[in-house]
Amino acid sequence: MSYETLRIESDAGIALITIDRQEKRNALNSVVRAELVAALDALRDDESVRVLVITGAGDKAFVAGADIGEFAGRTPLQQRATMTGRRVFDEVAAYPKPVIAMINGFCLGGGCELALGCDLRIAADTAKLGQPEINLGIIPGGGGTQRLPRVVGMGQAMRLVLGGEIIDAAEALRIGLVDVVHPAVELRERTLDFARKMAEKSPVALRMAKTAVRAAAEMPLAAGLAYETELFVTCFASDDKREGVAAFLEKRPARFTGR
Ligand code: COA
Repeated sequence: MSYETLRIESDAGIALITIDRQEKRNALNSVVRAELVAALDALRDDESVRVLVITGAGDKAFVAGADIGEFAGRTPLQQRATMTGRRVFDEVAAYPKPVIAMINGFCLGGGCELALGCDLRIAADTAKLGQPEINLGIIPGGGGTQRLPRVVGMGQAMRLVLGGEIIDAAEALRIGLVDVVHPAVELRERTLDFARKMAEKSPVALRMAKTAVRAAAEMPLAAGLAYETELFVTCFASDDKREGVAAFLEKRPARFTGR
């Protein structure tokens, strides 16, 4: 498939999705959103792709937010129509494969919400993050008010959402908004190295692990522990479990097939 605003490179079990609207700091307009949903659909059942990495083109921005130009002429009802239906932030969070945000620059507003939907946020030391919607007289609308406090806690979420403050990568690491920070020149290689190692694991186990960890944010502890047991037992039914255990006992690398 070809896209107007995305570039997709697939290699060694990884699909690298680059959002490419550099002249607008990779802002999410309706075309980018629709194309991201289409790309996620196209990669979902592709067994050669085990891990997704999302980044922004160039060295300035991951995604500088929703396209503010699109807000200008819209009525509230028109805006609501764009916010219901399939939402890329939620699709990423519920995706059956791990999705890594490779944050190469400004990660603001909808960009931060896209990163929050991902399973892991790996940032360049030059990245800048925040939810500056309050400065426009609006609030985060792509899950920011809900996912951000679950990631950084209520107080830091309030600081970012009410204060509209933009923070650097070191501060984002300190509060847990990003998980790893690399020097900007090493970001791509080190993130892809990490993704490659993840892509060698069992796709079945990756899926069950993502589902189980995500459930922790939504379920009471007892229900979450019971759910974990069921997902564990599901792994036990897989060829990959047989292969993983056999490979360990035979002192050889495992070859997981996703069955
Ligand atoms: N929506 C639409 N266009 C955007 C955009 C966004 N979220 N962010 C940047 N752009 C556009 C700018 O309007 C400018 O377009 P132009 O060249 O046609 O005038 C271009 O991208 C470059 O932006 P510029 O502000 O000149 O770059 P910068 O490097 O000096 O600053 C930012 C980068 C990200 C700090 C700044 O663009 C910004 O504050 N953007 C808005 C962030 C925001 O509020 N996001 C939340 C939206 S809900």
